[in-house]
Amino acid sequence: MGKTSLGFLILEIFLAAYIYNPLPDVEEPWKIMLLDTSLQTSRYLALFAETLGLSHVMEAILFFSSIQCVSPTSDKNITVRDTTFNNIPVHIYTKSLRRGLFYVHGGGWCLGSNDYYTYDLLSRWTADRLDAVIISTNYRLAPKHHFPVQFEDVYIALKWFLDPQILESYGVDSERIGISGDSAGGNLAAAVTQQLLEDPDVKIKLKVQTLIYPALQNFDFGLPSYRENAHYPVLPKLLMVRFWSEYFTTNRSLKKEMLSNQHIPLESSNLFKFVNWSSLLPEKFKKDHIYKTPTHGSSELTKKYSGILDLHGLPLTYVITCQFDVLRDDGLMYVTRLQNSGVRAIHNHIEVRYRAANQYINWLHENL
Ligand SMILES: *[C@@H]1O[C@H](CO)[C@@H](O)[C@H](O)[C@H]1NC(C)=O
Ligand SMILES: *[C@@H]1O[C@H](CO)[C@@H](O)[C@H](O)[C@H]1NC(C)=O
Ligand SMILES: *[C@@H]1O[C@H](CO)[C@@H](O)[C@H](O)[C@H]1NC(C)=O
Repeated sequence: MGKTSLGFLILEIFLAAYIYNPLPDVEEPWKIMLLDTSLQTSRYLALFAETLGLSHVMEAILFFSSIQCVSPTSDKNITVRDTTFNNIPVHIYTKSLRRGLFYVHGGGWCLGSNDYYTYDLLSRWTADRLDAVIISTNYRLAPKHHFPVQFEDVYIALKWFLDPQILESYGVDSERIGISGDSAGGNLAAAVTQQLLEDPDVKIKLKVQTLIYPALQNFDFGLPSYRENAHYPVLPKLLMVRFWSEYFTTNRSLKKEMLSNQHIPLESSNLFKFVNWSSLLPEKFKKDHIYKTPTHGSSELTKKYSGILDLHGLPLTYVITCQFDVLRDDGLMYVTRLQNSGVRAIHNHIEVRYRAANQYINWLHENL
C-alpha cells in the first residue's frame, strides 16, 4: 500500500467518523448524517470567519446556505411568480397551467356588455367546465365610436393578454388559448384572429377560434338567410343593417344604401366574389333563391373597410350557425371559404339561437 493510498484511507476513516453520528431509528439515516455534516461544516467555517473578524457567524452561514438557492422558474405543471406584496418579496406557486379563452360579446357593435347576465353566466360556465381562465372583454360602442375603434379595443386587450408575462401571471398555458365571440363579437373575434397572424410583435398562436352566429360580411344583404329571416324575431334584417351602418357612420344614407344593396363602391366590386353565395353556400341553403350581384353604389362610406380576405393560416375554427337567423349564411360561406383555404373548420348548425351553449363548451373542452 503506497503512502498516498494510506493517506486516503486515513482521511476516509476520519471523514466517516466525522460524519457518523448514531441516530435513533429513522429512515435513510445517512442522508440526515450528511446533511448534518454539511451544516456542521458550514458552522465551523462560519465560526472561523467570525473569529478572524471577517463576518458575523449567522451572515457567514447564510452565505454558505445560498448554495441551496434556485431561481423561481415555472414548469409545465406549476407556475411560479416572483413578486412583492407591499414590498415584501414572495414567490407565488400556482398549480397546473390552464387553458385561456378570450371572449368578445355581441350586440351589433352598438349594444352589449361583459356585465350582462348572459355573458356573465356563460363565462362562469366556461371557466368552471373547462377549468380555464376566461377573459371577457368590453370595447367602446357605436354610435359614439365607429369602426375601427371596436376592433382596435378588442385587439389591444387581446394583445395585452397574450403577453407571456401576463399569461404566466394567470397560469395560462400559452399553447392552449382560444378566442370566442357571438354575433358582432364573432366578427371582432374573427377579425382580430386574422390580424394576429400579421403581427410580428405577437409570438403566441391561438389554438382555436369559435364563432357563434358571427356577422362576417357586409357586402351583400341579399343572401338567402337575409331574405328568409328578414322579419324573424330578435334580429330582423332592418336591425342588422342598422347595426352594420352604425358601425361605420351615423350618416343614415349608408343604411339606405345597404338596404338596397348599393353600398359597395365600384372599385371594390372585386370583393363580391368573397361573398358570392351562389358559389359558397351549400346547395340545401340556396333553395330556389336566384343569385343577383349587388349593384354598385357611389358611397364613400365603406371604402375603408377591406373585409376578411385572406384566410390562410387561421387556427382550427368552430362556427355555430342558426337556421332562423339573418347571419346564417355569413357563417356558412365563411366555413366554405375556410375549408377552401385549407383551414380546419368545424360547423355546427342549430335550429334556434341561444340553444348551443352546451355543445359549444363541450367542443372547447375537447379541442382547446
Ligand atoms: C408534471 O406532472 C406530471 C404528472 O403528474 C409528471 O409526470 C411530470 O413529471 C411533471 N412535470 C414536471 C416538470 O414537474
Ligand atoms: C357568382 O357565382 C356564380 C356561379 O358560381 C357566377 O356565375 C357569378 O359570376 C359569380 N358572381 C360574382 C360577382 O362573383
Ligand atoms: C351622408 O352621406 C351621403 C352619401 O355618402 C352624403 O351625400 C351626405 O352629404 C352625408 N351627410 C352628412 C350629413 O354628412
